[in-house]
Amino acid sequence: MSDSRPHGPNLEECAALLRAGKLCAFPTETVYGLGADATNSDAVLSIYETKGRPRFNPLIVHCANLAMAQRFAVFSPLALQLTVFWPGPLTLVLPQKSDAGLSDLVTAGLFSVAVRIPDHPVALALIRAAGRPLAAPSANPSGKLSPTTAQQVIAGFGGRVPVLDGGPSRSGVESTIIKVDGDKVIQLRAGALPRAEIETVLGTPIGVAGKGASIAAPGMMASHYAPRALLRLDAAQPDEDEAYIAFGHEPPHIRGPSRNLSPNADLREAAHNLFAILHDLDSIGIAKIAVAPIPHHGLGEAINDRLARAAAPR
Ligand code: TXA
Ligand code: MG
Repeated sequence: MSDSRPHGPNLEECAALLRAGKLCAFPTETVYGLGADATNSDAVLSIYETKGRPRFNPLIVHCANLAMAQRFAVFSPLALQLTVFWPGPLTLVLPQKSDAGLSDLVTAGLFSVAVRIPDHPVALALIRAAGRPLAAPSANPSGKLSPTTAQQVIAGFGGRVPVLDGGPSRSGVESTIIKVDGDKVIQLRAGALPRAEIETVLGTPIGVAGKGASIAAPGMMASHYAPRALLRLDAAQPDEDEAYIAFGHEPPHIRGPSRNLSPNADLREAAHNLFAILHDLDSIGIAKIAVAPIPHHGLGEAINDRLARAAAPR
């Protein structure tokens, strides 16, 4: 039987990696996830770098039990009804609890958060052993198929990512994503849990975002964090009525409020600070913000994507 024994790091080793801010792929009943400590922004950034994801899509926070999920999300009675499907292939998008300690790179700066409890003993044991909620997209390089075996994950990332082997995923289709917003229930992504089962539990039909929702990634149409302020991008310096977000060297004689994404022009640090700075300038009531040019390489692509969306007319 030794042929079929899992190879690679064991559960304790994987939990230690995650606690140390490293990535570790792990099995779920849907697909393998590329996990990181959801409270550690540097760890979450490594997910984007490793996947080569050009955008900061919000990520699902994987929890071991309802109590853990309730630390990060607000469950209305309606949302609680849907937890009958947990553990299971259902992701709930709910209002985020403020100051819950999640990295805002997990939520891409949104006020909602996606949570789920996977129905896989190895995933649950790993989350418990790590003692952290795990942010995890599917464990494939961006644009490739979602993996359902440890071998696919290892091959996909050329062996660069440690994988906790839990055998093949049962489903191979990602979780169904449901947003509960007040008394509205909307399916954002069709997935492994059929909508009809959800409607049976609720006793009423639910809305579907977009048409023909065949595993369409909601990342494209999910509301993205948009500051109240108007943004002007690629600005070498602010006009008189603008706050300024600098990157690296700051232009002299800035009179209004200013923030620096990274004084050392480090894209990782800039990504780390991006949403916090936008929220911060919003909270002090800034109406117009000029943003310094950000290089397009590495994480710069994701930063520029988010800035462009934040600046888009609405
Ligand atoms: O089965 C699954 O869901 C797998 C396993 C690993 O759990 N994970 C997965 O993650 O498919 P990912 O990152 O490939 O897809 C998560 C989707 C993204 O399209 C993202 O836009 C959406 O969830 N999402 C996350 N947070 C959201 C939020 N606050 N509002 C709307 N959509 C959100
Ligand atoms: Mg995916």
